[in-house]
This record gives sequence, C-alpha cells and structure tokens, in this order.
Amino acid sequence: MGKRILVVGGGGREHAILWKLAQSSGVEKLFAAPGNGGTRQIAENVRIAVDDVVGLTGFAVKNNIDLTIVGPEKPLSLGIVDVFRSCGQPIFGPTRKASEIETSKAFAKRLMENAKIPTACFKIFHEINTARSEIFMRSAPYVVKASGLAFGKGVYVCRSLEEAEKALKELLVERKYGDAGDVIIEDFLDGYEVSIHAFCDGKTFYLFPPSQDHKRVSNFDLGKNTGGMGVIAPLPQFKSKYRLAIMGGIIEPALSALAKYAEPFTGCLYPGLMMTKYGPVVLEFNARLGDPETEVYMRLLKSDFLDLVSACVDGNLGGINMEWNSGFAVCVILASEGYPDTPVTGKMIQGIEEAEQIPGVVVFHGATVFKEKLLTSGGRPLAVSAVGDTLEDAIKAVYDGVNCISFEGMHYRTDIGANAL
Ligand code: AMP
Ligand code: GLY
Repeated sequence: MGKRILVVGGGGREHAILWKLAQSSGVEKLFAAPGNGGTRQIAENVRIAVDDVVGLTGFAVKNNIDLTIVGPEKPLSLGIVDVFRSCGQPIFGPTRKASEIETSKAFAKRLMENAKIPTACFKIFHEINTARSEIFMRSAPYVVKASGLAFGKGVYVCRSLEEAEKALKELLVERKYGDAGDVIIEDFLDGYEVSIHAFCDGKTFYLFPPSQDHKRVSNFDLGKNTGGMGVIAPLPQFKSKYRLAIMGGIIEPALSALAKYAEPFTGCLYPGLMMTKYGPVVLEFNARLGDPETEVYMRLLKSDFLDLVSACVDGNLGGINMEWNSGFAVCVILASEGYPDTPVTGKMIQGIEEAEQIPGVVVFHGATVFKEKLLTSGGRPLAVSAVGDTLEDAIKAVYDGVNCISFEGMHYRTDIGANAL
C-alpha cells in the first residue's frame, strides 16, 4: 500500500518536493497545506495555514496521513514536530528545541562557539546605544543581523556607517521584525557562498551535493538580501577536501552539540557557508530545506526522495546511498514588483506551458493562486528550473524558459550561475 503524505507549506520548495514525490511508487496520495496554484495539479490543497499546528495535527490524524514533511521554519518554531510526535504521527523535521539553531541566531552563535565550529566573531546587543558604540569601533563593511526569524531579510551588510545606523534603528527602535528582537553584529567574511544540506535521523546524516544560492535581489550581488533569487547545483569550483572539512568540522559537531544542549536533530540541517581563504565558515544554520535550493535538488536526485525522508523519520539512515543524475541544475526566481520589501500581487501569469515545452525545463510555483486564472500571490511567484549536461546548457535552458513567462512587474536576476562558469 502506498503512503498518504502531507507536505506543509505553499512555496516553490514544497511544490518541488511534491513534484518529486509524485514520481514515487510508494505514494498513494499527496496533500499540500496550504499549497499553491501549482501544487493543486499534483496534490490536494488543504486550506490550513502553516502556523495552525492544531489544525494540521487534526487533519493528519483524521485523514490517516502516513508521513508529514515540513517545509518552512515557522511551524518548526511553533513545535509542530513535538505535537505530531505526541500524537504518534510520523513527521520529518526537528523539534522546537532543535530548530532553535535556525530560529535564534543568538542560540546558534553560542552553540557554534561552544562546539568550536568556525563562524564570524560576534557580539549580541539588546539596545541601540551599545550597538551604535560597537559600530563606531569597527570599520566597513558592517554586518548587522536580527537574531530571530525574518525570512532571510533581517541581515544587513552595510557599506557605510549611515547604512549600519539605519539598520540598527530598524531592528532595535522600530522593531521591524518584532520579536526577532536582539541584534548580532559580526565580522564581515569574504569569499563565495555555499549551501549545504545534511539529512539527519537523530544519529547520523547524509550529505547532498553543494549548491549556491544568490541572495541579493539584483545582478552582481547588489541590492537587498532576499529569501533567494536563484541557485545552481552542483558547484563546479567546490573542492572535495572541503566536503570532509564540512562533515567533520561543521555538521558532526553541530549535531553533537544539538543533542547535548537541545535535542537530537531529525530533518534537514542546512548551514549557509562562506568559503573563505581559511576554509568554510558558517554564516547561519537553517533547520529545513532551502528555497530555492530544493528546486534544483529535486531535479538532480535520481533515487526516491520518499526513501530518504522515511529513513530519517524511522532512524535508519545509516548506510543509505542516494543516486544523483549527472549534469547540473539551475533555478531562477521570478519575483514580484516591490520584492523583497512590499511585493505587489494579484497579477496574471502567462507562458508557463510554453516554458515547459523547452527540454529540461520545469516551472515550480512559489506564490501563486488559481482564481479562474493563475495569479501571483506573494514575493516569489515562480521558480523556473532546468537541467543540462553542462552548467552552460542548464543556464541557457533556464533563461529560455524564463523568456516565455510574463506577469506585470516581474523581475529576476540575469546572472544566476555566471560566477561559477
Ligand atoms: P544569513 O541569513 O545569516 O545567511 O545572511 C544572509 C546573507 O547575508 C548571506 O547569505 C550573506 O550573503 C550575507 N552575510 C551574512 N553574514 C555575513 C558575514 N558575516 N559576512 C559577509 N556576508 C554575510
Ligand atoms: N535559500 C535561502 C533559504 O532557504 O533560507
């Protein structure tokens, strides 16, 4: 008998997970809560919000869900895994305590300090005056971060003192991210960025190939930080010696420290790294899969994703081996006017079918809704993905796909993967 699977979330990551699960012979039926205009084609969309933990638990129990996969950080921070487990419902993700490695940057920083995991030197501030004094003692670029959840937008890398003061004011006086509260000021790190995904069963882990997100909104890494504007995998310039350094110097000590100071970690541990001239240094930890990283991983993974997730939940990941397709995958985010600040939504989307005629192209929906026609409903409406034998091939295909699609105010980066070529 196939499994009935619930995926919590409504973004491109969740659409990509569902797309991959739909190819698994072990699946009977897929549900998405709340899903989006794309997931409705392969799953039953359920109108329950990601932060309605009670509603989601009730749905899983009543509908005989065999496995729930959590996409976003919000339900993890609310303890969805703890609640599901207490009801005997199998679920993929870390407990509330273990997910603090993402939801509190202050917790993550202290954990890294204790576990001797390489990260930028930092100080934590609760009020504006001492934070300002710290900035005055430093030189540009200044790195200012909100401690709590801010959807990838609470990080300010400031080139001038004025910019840094403005960031501090937004976070500590105007409280732009509310409870995201305290501020971290840390050393600026130079290098290139890598996303690492380690699937964990509470005892051991399985490492995905490295990928690279492009966080800034505009070409040449200019403009504001976003949730991610595009990604490539695998990374051609990544040396295999780094893999060992990451496993032994970052993932293993982080998992041991979590087991010691919080709870054993089950789910996907995703550190964002800066590859500096001294080696990999952790920028942040996430307690979930990346978006848009998942959109390329699901394109490259050859083995059954359900087998991997089930092994994590059942605690028998040891010895698992996943097969990957050769070649490269690229994803380009099509963003709404005003993103990342105040996205304009409700715009009609055209051209997805044409884009998917191009060999290798699959379009995942990030924030769409179907109301007689397909409309944008958030900051990152679409994630166009493509695979190719070479990185060049994948980049060419993805932008051929992008060129088919339009909605009013659409903007995207035209240089995804260009640095890696
Ligand atoms: P985070 O959410 O902490 O990963 O930060 C978002 C983005 O800000 C990262 O992907 C980097 O591009 C940038 N960033 C964060 N911390 C630093 C740092 N210490 N030095 C340089 N860039 C940083
Ligand atoms: N790719 C950025 C994130 O998922 O946080």
